[in-house]
Amino acid sequence: MQPKLQDPSLLKLNVGFINDEWVPARSGKTFEVHDPATRFLVGTCPEFTKAETNEAILAARDAFSKFHLQTGRQRSRILRRWYDEVMANADDLAILITWENGKPLNDAKAEIAYAAGFLEWFSEEAARIYGDTIQGSNPTHRMITYKEPIGVCGLITPWNFPAAMITRKVAPALAAGCTVVCKAPGETPFTALALMELACRAGLPPGVLNMITALDNTIEIGHMLTTSPLIDKVSFTGSTNVGKILMKQSSYTLKKLSMELGGNAPFIVFEDADFDAAIAGAIIAKFRSSGQTCVCANRIYVQAGMYERFVKAFTEKVKSFKVGNGFDAATTHGPLVQARAVEKVDSHVRDAVKKGGKITVGGHGLSLGPAFYAPTVIRDMTADMDIAREETFGPVAGIFSFTTEEEVVKLANNTSIFRVAESLKIGMVGVNTGVISDPASPFGGVKESGFGREGSKYGLAEFQVIKTVTFGGMGKTLKI
Ligand code: SIN
Repeated sequence: MQPKLQDPSLLKLNVGFINDEWVPARSGKTFEVHDPATRFLVGTCPEFTKAETNEAILAARDAFSKFHLQTGRQRSRILRRWYDEVMANADDLAILITWENGKPLNDAKAEIAYAAGFLEWFSEEAARIYGDTIQGSNPTHRMITYKEPIGVCGLITPWNFPAAMITRKVAPALAAGCTVVCKAPGETPFTALALMELACRAGLPPGVLNMITALDNTIEIGHMLTTSPLIDKVSFTGSTNVGKILMKQSSYTLKKLSMELGGNAPFIVFEDADFDAAIAGAIIAKFRSSGQTCVCANRIYVQAGMYERFVKAFTEKVKSFKVGNGFDAATTHGPLVQARAVEKVDSHVRDAVKKGGKITVGGHGLSLGPAFYAPTVIRDMTADMDIAREETFGPVAGIFSFTTEEEVVKLANNTSIFRVAESLKIGMVGVNTGVISDPASPFGGVKESGFGREGSKYGLAEFQVIKTVTFGGMGKTLKI
C-alpha cells in the first residue's frame, strides 16, 4: 500500500520549478523514483537538460538584481515563514523522505526538525549581517567593509538527507541575499520539490529559487552550473571524486566553492571512557541513516583493555536492531538508498574478512529486498583493509584495537582529551558524544573531505564577499 499525504499537492509529479513556474521537461522525458524498501514507483520527475538549467540561471540572475536589495529583515521574514511552513507540514515531508530515501519514519521526522533548524537559524542571521570600520595606515583614510551576497549560486545536494542538505545550503544563500539554482538529487527529488512548494507558499519572490531535477543528465547539469559565467558560487555535497571534477570545471571561471565530500571518520574509545555512553555514542555515530552519512564513524578504535567487552556489548546492541521498511513502526534501520550501494558495502566486508577480520553479526544481504544489508560488526580490523582507508557509506562497523594514544593519534603519551581533539587533523570532533550535527555549528571537513563550512555564522560567510570602501582625504596629517 502506498503512503498517503495529508496534503497531496506536496507531491510534485513531472514538474520542476524554473523562473517562478512549475514546468515539465521540454523534451517530455522523465525518470522514475522508487521506494528503496519495496521497489514500488513513488513517481516520475522531469529529466531537465542544460537548456532548462540555463533558463533557471538566467531567472536567478535576473532575480538577483532585485533580491539583493531587500533588507536582511525582509529576507529573514521569508525564511521564517518557510520554517513555519516546513514545521506545519513536517509529517508529510517525513513521509516523502521515508518513501524515497528509505530511512525510518522517526528518523525522517528528526531530519525535518534538523532541516527546519537551518531555516530558523539563518532567518535569525539574515538580519544581523555586519561589516567593519577599519583604521587605515594612511591617517587621512577611513575604511569600511560591507558583506555583500556573492550572487547566483549553483547548489548540488545529496540524497542521504533529502531535506536538511537543501536547507543547509539554500537558507544561508538566501539569508545573504543570493539567488539559487538547486540541482535536486535524482534519488530523492520529491522532498526537494515539496520544500520548493513550501518556499513559494512562504512568499519567496519569483526566480529567487529554482529547483532542477535530473538523473541521467546530472553530469551535464553539473557541468553547466560549474562553467556558466553567470554562476558565482557552487556548493556541492557528494563524493570526493565528483567534487574534484566540479572543482576543476569551476576553475575556468574562478568560482567560489564549498565542497562537503566523503569522510572516513574515526571513533576513538579510551579505557577510562564511560562504557555505556561509548557504546551509545558509537552506535549512533556509525548506524545513523544505516551508515549513509559523511560523518558516520568508519573506523572504531577501542583501547585494548576495553576491547573484548566493547565488541561484545556493541554486537549485542546491533543484534537488537530491527531492519525493515521505514514505514513499519518497529523498524530501527531501513534499506540503503539503492541496490548498487549494497555491492560496495559487501565488497568492504569481504575484503576485511579476507585480511583476517571476524564478523560478529551480519555480513550479508537480506531477503527483505536488494537494497537491504544486515547491520554488520567486524572485529580484529587492521590498517590494510579497505574500511580503514575508504568511506563505506553503509551499515558496517569495523572495530580496531589500539594500545597507546600515540598509536591512535600519533602523539606523546598524554591522555588529555583536549590534546587529542586538537591533534586530530579533521574538521569536526565530538568529545563524549556521537552527535555533532547542529545548525548552529560549523560543519565540514579537511583534506579530501573538502572545504568550506555549512551551518553557523561561517555557513553564511560562504555566500558573501567582502567589499572594502576606502575614503581618502578624511583627516588632517599631524606633524609631531
Ligand atoms: C552528510 O552526511 O553530508 C550530513 C550529515 C549531517 O548533517 O549530520
